[in-house]
Amino acid sequence: MRLAWEGRREPAVEPLALPAGEPLLVHGDNLAALAGLTGRKARLVYLDPPFMTGDAFKMGGVDAYRDDLAPDAYIQMLYERLVLVRRVLAADGTVIVHLDHHASHAVKLVMDEVFGRFLNEIVWFYQGGALTSVRRHLPRKHDVLLWYANGPDHVFNPPRGAKVSDPMIRRWGHYADAEGRVPFGRIRREGQTHARLQRRFIRQHQRPPQDDEIAFVMQGSLLRSVWADIPEIRNSPRYAEATGYPTQKPLALLERIVTMTTHPGDLVIDPFCGSGTTLLAAERLGRRWIGIDRSPAAIETAARRLSRDDVARAGDGELAETIRRPVF
Ligand SMILES: C[S@@+](CC[C@H](N)C(=O)[O-])C[C@H]1O[C@@H](n2cnc3c(N)ncnc32)[C@H](O)[C@@H]1O
Repeated sequence: MRLAWEGRREPAVEPLALPAGEPLLVHGDNLAALAGLTGRKARLVYLDPPFMTGDAFKMGGVDAYRDDLAPDAYIQMLYERLVLVRRVLAADGTVIVHLDHHASHAVKLVMDEVFGRFLNEIVWFYQGGALTSVRRHLPRKHDVLLWYANGPDHVFNPPRGAKVSDPMIRRWGHYADAEGRVPFGRIRREGQTHARLQRRFIRQHQRPPQDDEIAFVMQGSLLRSVWADIPEIRNSPRYAEATGYPTQKPLALLERIVTMTTHPGDLVIDPFCGSGTTLLAAERLGRRWIGIDRSPAAIETAARRLSRDDVARAGDGELAETIRRPVF
């Protein structure tokens, strides 16, 4: 299927000259910045663009960004960027576009055309907020994350939930160490029977286990495509994570995404990085990162969050000083 919309055209832009290496925080339009990143190979590109809400977002009374493109212009804006994203994605990389009910149905068709290899439509059910303001339909309380692969093989580290329902885990879980491992010695010391675990060990190793050998590793069950265990961020001082930047996403959500789709040392790119949540998740998980945003408020917030004052920036044609590693 080939899609059509008013003003459809391929991206044509002068690439932004960017310094080599990472981390890199780019202040400027992500079209030129993505064009300037050709040659890099990201394992994950996560995009959290404006959702086509028609709103303008402020931070501390000052404009942060506007989300006011009409549908055709909005689809063209995303299409051009997705075409460039494909060029900076590793062959085994994946891309996630984070949206809601305003545009996810239309963008899914665009993703089908540009990437083709659909993996999941992940529903992030964030629960919070008032339920009383809607009268004619159900409260809309989820975002949609469209996850696509670039090629036939892609990185997938299956995420496991924190809640454990497996009866084995209910029975033995409280003997687990910080990594979720339950050693035979611990069970024996507690005077518990462990015949079944011991029989399994002997079957596998042809000998009885030593005290320091692991009876089993406690893991939550594999997550399905609906994630309901991560609350939204509210911009209130009660939420330690809140930066004040509008539409900030939770760090737990981005840490799950980065862990699921990349290995340590991999490159993660977020072309609509806002307050820098993806970049912080990548940094904490030992991944390399590049963040881009055209809003000064976003870049200020991300720079402060990532390093206080020592992330140099590139963008809008002005070359940065050498980029130094953020310090936490
Ligand atoms: C939904 S917010 C991202 C929020 C972010 N995920 C976070 O956790 O803070 C969308 C961001 O896209 C940026 N943006 C919109 N159009 C852009 C463009 N053409 N180039 C670069 N940034 C853009 C906006 O300035 C805004 O910060």
